[in-house]
Amino acid sequence: MIHDPQDDADPADPVVASETAAPHHRRIRSFVTRAGRVSTGQRRALDEFGPSFVLGFSPEQPDWDAVFGRRAPRVLEIGFGMGATTAEIAATRPSDDFLGVEVHEPGVGALLKLIGEHDLTNIRIIQHDAVEVLEHMIAPESLDGVHIYFPDPWHKARHHKRRLIKPKFVALLVSRLKPGGYIHLATDWQNYAEQMLDVLSAEPELQNTADGYAPRPDYRPVTKFERRGLKLGHGVWDLVFRRR
Ligand SMILES: C[S@@+](CC[C@H](N)C(=O)[O-])C[C@H]1O[C@@H](n2cnc3c(N)ncnc32)[C@H](O)[C@@H]1O
Repeated sequence: MIHDPQDDADPADPVVASETAAPHHRRIRSFVTRAGRVSTGQRRALDEFGPSFVLGFSPEQPDWDAVFGRRAPRVLEIGFGMGATTAEIAATRPSDDFLGVEVHEPGVGALLKLIGEHDLTNIRIIQHDAVEVLEHMIAPESLDGVHIYFPDPWHKARHHKRRLIKPKFVALLVSRLKPGGYIHLATDWQNYAEQMLDVLSAEPELQNTADGYAPRPDYRPVTKFERRGLKLGHGVWDLVFRRR
């Protein structure tokens, strides 16, 4: 985890306060917009590679085969953070295409830098709220997989409503998956892992590939942050479900 936005989301926080005051007008978001510092290297990558690899949000579905320049299995990753895992998976799975969605600009710059350094051609990026991307830009039954790694845990109970993995969001995800497509989640927060298992198990269109939590699939690398947590005795839970 690169940042815990819950630290920013105090009840006195104007973002939280306004969402609480006008729940019918504003959607409760899973992130807090923050002005992150973009490093010089990230800025350079944004300028150099952004035009080829970043798509703007659009209310219509792009021709994804044209966007990627080929027809290949397509995986959506939500909240890629600084993109290290995304880049590593894309490098080990060259015959699959990866669409990464992240709201945080320094993260977009960081992933573009990795794309440049490793000559990756099978990643495209959208800097926007993933909920709106799913609703508008992704066709029903079009994805082969979805990755969501270490989503913000929003660990205080009064912030749980901001958690991404909720029944309505999972139903939206499932609608975008092809039959047989998979959802792979990982978290280091036990209470969120339990919520994930409850929500995914209750979705009738999904089938668990494991008996409860899944072993970490080989393609998901152990992150630096995760390795540190594991040394301290913290757990990590992977979940892999398939659409029926
Ligand atoms: C805790 S970080 C984890 C980052 C990365 N997956 C990792 O394992 O290091 C969660 C990320 O999700 C992003 N995020 C949260 N809600 C999002 C949304 N609705 N759309 C796009 N990105 C989102 C945040 O900006 C943040 O970078």
